[in-house]
Amino acid sequence: MTAAPVPTLATPVPVPLDVERLRSDFPILGQPVRGKPLVYLDNAATSQKPQVVIDAVTRFYASENANIHRGVHFLSERATLAYDAVREKVARFLNAGSAREIIFTRGTTESINLVAQSFGRAVLRPGDEVLITGMEHHSNIVPWQLVCEQTGARLRAIPITDTGELDLEAFDRLLGERTRLLALAHLSNALGTINPVRDLVARAHARGIPVLVDGAQSAPHLGVDLQALDCDFFACSGHKMFGPTGVGVLYGREALLERMPPWQGGGDMIASVTLERSTWAPVPAKFEAGTPMIAEVIGLGAAVDYLSAVGLTAVAAWEHELLAVASQRVGDIEGVRLVGTAPAKASVLSFVMEGVHPHDIGTVLDDEGIAIRAGHHCAQPVMQRFGVPATARASFAAYNTLEEVDALVRGLRRVRQVFG
Ligand SMILES: Cc1ncc(COP(=O)(O)O)c(C=O)c1O
Repeated sequence: MTAAPVPTLATPVPVPLDVERLRSDFPILGQPVRGKPLVYLDNAATSQKPQVVIDAVTRFYASENANIHRGVHFLSERATLAYDAVREKVARFLNAGSAREIIFTRGTTESINLVAQSFGRAVLRPGDEVLITGMEHHSNIVPWQLVCEQTGARLRAIPITDTGELDLEAFDRLLGERTRLLALAHLSNALGTINPVRDLVARAHARGIPVLVDGAQSAPHLGVDLQALDCDFFACSGHKMFGPTGVGVLYGREALLERMPPWQGGGDMIASVTLERSTWAPVPAKFEAGTPMIAEVIGLGAAVDYLSAVGLTAVAAWEHELLAVASQRVGDIEGVRLVGTAPAKASVLSFVMEGVHPHDIGTVLDDEGIAIRAGHHCAQPVMQRFGVPATARASFAAYNTLEEVDALVRGLRRVRQVFG
């Protein structure tokens, strides 16, 4: 798989996507909310699910349910094959080197905690540094704070500029002798900034520093080619990519995973157990203790099939169009200030309106059937950096339309009227 082109707001790209057809795959989108057609613009929080994903989960429970790797019976063998097939599918979708590098977790948060508690705890010594950025989601901050506290290491952050880009000069200064890991978002959920990850990975690798990429937002919106990115760890969540909640992925470079200790103990992750000691199963089983989220993994497989059939290039192109039009039109509304104006952005439009709290914006829009998110988006340091307590955030998916952008703009004009 090749990576989708990184869209910048200045460079339009052709859009080979039948959006109306796509919408008809998502039953929830036909549902009115508060007597109005639902306009769902909270996709960065979670995406809606196509019928094929709902069907895959239902079918599993209705006719395929059994525990995996445990029984010799028909259903268990079939469930095991189906579960393992999704691992292969995800490896292809992300272009990992091998399915052994794909670990199923509950989501991005758990994937990052796994790396912090396994890799981080094993590697970090007092005085060592973990480098993150000022635009991280809390799930790429707090796990590092915890492991730094446990090991005596220090957490440092690359500052961000007024447009919401990484300060690359500061990056070069901060990437130092003591840096043991760089952990950064591919696509910021609070600003929409696409970080130049491939370049940053190369700079970190030149100093022998491994890199974790938080791909919670990039996996569903940009198209990810792990071999091209060359990162060492990559985390994403099924529920943001048309899949079920409760399932996510950690990619890890096989050589690193082999050396890392398990982070949770239990069934299925062992080679042998005596009352005195245990030995570990090979990767990835070493990192999947206990009965996993089998139905959710099956649902994730259906979501990956669906996204692959639609095509990430088409998805990225259409979302680019939506974001470019929405940025222009929302930015033109009196009193609105966009937060995050980097040239390379995707799918996220964060803004504030003079004299109106973002929660009030969200409430007035909700009255119109429009779902956005208002708050700090689990990125409080970003809010502090831009001197705002919160922002309003519209975030797009491939099933959104230009008519929905119109509805958003009309709704925001109404907010202006209501609050003078
Ligand atoms: C950039 C980013 N990282 C991490 C997460 C955490 O994802 P999850 O809650 O699915 O674990 C999110 C969720 O919004 C996110 O946007």
